[in-house]
Amino acid sequence: MKGIILAGGAGSRLYPLTLVASKQLQPVYDKPMVYYPLATFIENGISSICLISTPHDLPRFSQLLGDGKQWGISIEYREQAKPAGIAQAFLIAESFIGQDPVSLILGDNIFYGAESFKRAFAEFRGGATIFGYQVHDPERYGVVEFDSSGNAISIEEKPKNPRSNYAVPGLYLYDNQVVPITKALKPSPRGELEITDVNLSYLAKKQLRVEKLSRGFAWLDAGTSSSLHEASAYVQTIEKRQGIKIGCPEEAALQRGFISVSQFESNLANLPNCEYRDYLGRLLQEKRKELS
Ligand code: DAU
Repeated sequence: MKGIILAGGAGSRLYPLTLVASKQLQPVYDKPMVYYPLATFIENGISSICLISTPHDLPRFSQLLGDGKQWGISIEYREQAKPAGIAQAFLIAESFIGQDPVSLILGDNIFYGAESFKRAFAEFRGGATIFGYQVHDPERYGVVEFDSSGNAISIEEKPKNPRSNYAVPGLYLYDNQVVPITKALKPSPRGELEITDVNLSYLAKKQLRVEKLSRGFAWLDAGTSSSLHEASAYVQTIEKRQGIKIGCPEEAALQRGFISVSQFESNLANLPNCEYRDYLGRLLQEKRKELS
């Protein structure tokens, strides 16, 4: 399965932070925001990635992430000239997707406890798989309603009167039908190709799976100054308490077997002295012990 990271948009809610660097390049505690969705993909075995952003921001992303070789993956870049909707990603990345299934992740969505996704990725056979996560403010999101047997029966984008508390997070898995489905979509009243309309098409075909995420799982979106600050505080709390890092592509790549211990070591050698390098150094020692 291929992966698309959507990291464009105007970032207007974070102005003036986003005047010179896009939202997904802002720090979430100790890393750029885009590291988190990138690590989620790597943890789940996605090694062929396309990052979509604005013409203005794309050079910064490629400066930050390069071609992905350092993590044993490949990263291509595509421009979205105007933010015409999340689903437009499938049209922009059509040649990248080719005949493969594809997962889309929003560049400002941070997940912790990615174990929850492993089965969905591993068992994906076709159709679409999306997730449902209980929130107190569902009206801000796509909202999925379930019947008494737990089957999804409706999805609405930012409903005034939500039919459930289950929001749809910004991680989606689709088979190759997603391209023709998106081509057939009409822009919504707000002029966007809506991801919710893609999901509704799969629902209408009875090919949509919605997996509820467990209570212990963390999904943060970092789209406003407050939520950005809260996401940083959350990451800091977990990292300090547990002595681990969330959203570390080097660690994910090593665990997933995308890079060897010696590649990891040479990545580490290229880093300046900093806390991030110290952390990778500790991981390397642990890995060596494990192998000896
Ligand atoms: O965060 C999950 C929610 O994301 C879902 O529950 C909703 O169904 C989905 O529509 C979306 O809602 P948002 O209000 O968060 O969408 P927003 O327009 O803020 O876009 C989400 C991210 O995608 C944001 O980081 C910017 C990027 N984006 C968005 C659009 C519309 C693009 O890169 N290009 C675009 O054209």
